[in-house]
Amino acid sequence: MNNTNAFPGPREVRPGVLVYPDLPGVARAAAQEFVKLAGRFIATHGMFHAALSGGNTPAQLFRLLASDEFRQSINWASTHLYWSDERCVPPDHPDSNFGMAQRELLQHISILPGNIHRMKAELPDLDRAAKDYEDTLRQNLPLNFEGFPCFDLIFLGMGPDGHTASLFPGALFPGCGDPRQTSDWVITPYVEKFQAHRMSLTLPILNAAREVIFLVTGADKAESLRSVIEGTRNPPLPAQLVTVPNGRRVFLVDESAASLLIS
Ligand code: 6PG
Repeated sequence: MNNTNAFPGPREVRPGVLVYPDLPGVARAAAQEFVKLAGRFIATHGMFHAALSGGNTPAQLFRLLASDEFRQSINWASTHLYWSDERCVPPDHPDSNFGMAQRELLQHISILPGNIHRMKAELPDLDRAAKDYEDTLRQNLPLNFEGFPCFDLIFLGMGPDGHTASLFPGALFPGCGDPRQTSDWVITPYVEKFQAHRMSLTLPILNAAREVIFLVTGADKAESLRSVIEGTRNPPLPAQLVTVPNGRRVFLVDESAASLLIS
């Protein structure tokens, strides 16, 4: 990430792990990377396909992308937005990942409605909704050499338990106990801790991306972040399994989350 602003430059405490002083620094670096990748992929293949993460961390990133400083640097007409996961609530529900992106980003930019690919996780037939999202991916994204749809960029967060997207430790995965085994592209796992289903891209899809950027902030994530980066957990944490073997994986983190990595 080039540092062309007053923010102090990042410290790379491990390969691909860039530490910023705080969440605003992480959000700014992520916005700069989004602009750079959008320009690159639109120039090389005419479109930019990016999946947004949920939770709270990305809100500042979305606000930056919607700001005068960044909005006009992105060709939104050639940008397609997707989601890495979604809660099983209506899009106007306060817990909706789409709803947060709508408030902080989508309603402020001139993106074509057909370029916004929402996970319809509120529908009663979740399996059908997941298959429909797989069709959306098949219709819009190129496939990689393994036959998996290939995003240009996927933003991901990570919970204190090491979950990412809606892939939680020990969650029920259809047909397998290990998320690496699924051949599905989109699943609807039941998440015990929330007593609710979620809809999520699967590991093979996350790992097929050209670039995955994790945004991780807060001291409550320090232990899991160290485990993920150093690969010390067995069974591995879900976030640890996102290795992006044929692409680039970057962690943009704040000092609190990186506290156990900074020697
Ligand atoms: C979700 C997210 C989830 C999130 C992490 C971190 O739907 O909740 O996709 O994977 O990224 O839980 O959430 P915070 O950014 O709120 O800490």
